Amino acid sequence: MGKFYLTTAIDYVNAPPHLGHAYEKVCADVINRYRKAMGDNTFFCTGVDEHSLNVYRQAKAKNMSPRQYCDEMVPAFKLAWQSLGIEYDRFIRTTDEDHIASVKKLLQKIYDKGDIYKDKYKGWYCVSCEAYLQESDLIEGKCPIHNRKAEWLEEENYFFRLSGYSEKILDHINKCGNFITPEARKNEIINIIKSGLQDISISRASEGWGIELPFDPAQTVYVWIDALTNYISAAGFSGDKRRFKELWPADLHVIGKDITRFHCIIWPAMLLSAGISLPLRIYAHGFMTLEGRKMSKTENNFIDPKNIAEAAGSDAVRYFIVKEMPYDDDMDFTWDRFWLRYNTHLANDFGNLSSRILSMAEKYCGNRIPGFSERGKEDDEFKNVFCGLTDKYQKLMDDCRLSSALDCAWELVAFANKYVETSQPWKLHKAGQNGKLDNVLRNLLEGLRVISVLLYPFMPVASHKIWKGLGIKPGEKQGIFSEMKPWGILPEGGMIEKTGMIFPRKEKDKL
Ligand code: MSP
Repeated sequence: MGKFYLTTAIDYVNAPPHLGHAYEKVCADVINRYRKAMGDNTFFCTGVDEHSLNVYRQAKAKNMSPRQYCDEMVPAFKLAWQSLGIEYDRFIRTTDEDHIASVKKLLQKIYDKGDIYKDKYKGWYCVSCEAYLQESDLIEGKCPIHNRKAEWLEEENYFFRLSGYSEKILDHINKCGNFITPEARKNEIINIIKSGLQDISISRASEGWGIELPFDPAQTVYVWIDALTNYISAAGFSGDKRRFKELWPADLHVIGKDITRFHCIIWPAMLLSAGISLPLRIYAHGFMTLEGRKMSKTENNFIDPKNIAEAAGSDAVRYFIVKEMPYDDDMDFTWDRFWLRYNTHLANDFGNLSSRILSMAEKYCGNRIPGFSERGKEDDEFKNVFCGLTDKYQKLMDDCRLSSALDCAWELVAFANKYVETSQPWKLHKAGQNGKLDNVLRNLLEGLRVISVLLYPFMPVASHKIWKGLGIKPGEKQGIFSEMKPWGILPEGGMIEKTGMIFPRKEKDKL
């Protein structure tokens, strides 16, 4: 038990969020719920990145102030996360007062350290990446990621001595094995550092949208330097010292694999320069495509998280995207696969299992939880399978291997389904073997309880329905996991309530 401070990347506000952005927020919410269930005192922060050139230009085109434009866009993000059951503690906006103060405080520290100097910059800039690109990276003058024409920028800027931090960052990566995960991302970063880091420009002179540099108000802070600082802003860097000491360093930054350079090189260097401890772990997840193509609003190839949550339920969306995204690779979302998984995994395997167990208990045990009348070897075997897989699940969850942890829970679903078929409670009932019948149903009810606890971080709505069906109220105080892990804790004689179909079968539908 301890504190757990968890963050996601903050999204650009110039387009509403799609299911790719949602994956990251769901993934973080699953981890947050799990840590809380383990008894940790968690703090989960997400939000939006507002000071981008894209926002400035779009607002101008609409004859709005950038702030007005952002105010109009923000509710779409909050609604999307709400529709997926994402329970964050702070939704940070980079226009928030405490964040602005925090950026200024951090930059002043770095400036005072002597790590910031003024120089001229010329280069190709991609507005969508909000970064300078090497000429050799461009394809026919366009950014290879966004297929957008790069712009030639030339101006006097402030620079950060990033080149001076290569050794220190490498040293940290080598010492803290889990600092950058998965391994492939870590190796990419090591190669980039070894090939030589250059100082980076950290301010812009040209646009009037951004946070003023504390030591030169004529320039605004480069959007990435501004955005990265959100992680310490939300922890209270500019305000309450005690709170900052309690929360920082972050235990986990969940980000996409496209922005590892910023998080694994620039961010640690800024913190090192300012004498602030480094985050403990960065998990860079893979990318989601839709039917084989990049997910993008401009190319009309995207899924609105709110629409899919309304059609299938938030649990089903959470289940699918987490299940399908491997720990260290990308995933392709297809509608066929989504409905196939829904109907086989959720409606058949899990939904049927839970309604079957509860209705058998209602029918054969008079609506009550039976005890173990003649506990035997078979019952111990059942228990051992459940406890063994729970331990395995816990190790995987601790390591952010969410899809594999779900597989563990699913092994239990399959095991329990098979147990129903082999033990045939209906036959035991017919034959009047009531002692044996009680044992079988007791095992199944306990099993269902454990499965619902393991699935809680992923599918909280379904788990709550099952807990209601089992007549239990897991407390939040000690953490659902610590309270619910011991085997055999269902109260004998406790009332059972049927849940109905948790995942009713659905027709395939494309939204
Ligand atoms: N604003 C920056 C992040 C600053 S963090 C200090 C940014 N914004 S973004 O809107 O482009 O992306 C936000 C997050 O969503 C990133 O972690 C990004 O990798 C993730 N994703 C965006 N599209 C995605 C998919 N198609 N699939 C999975 N994750 C995706 O970058």
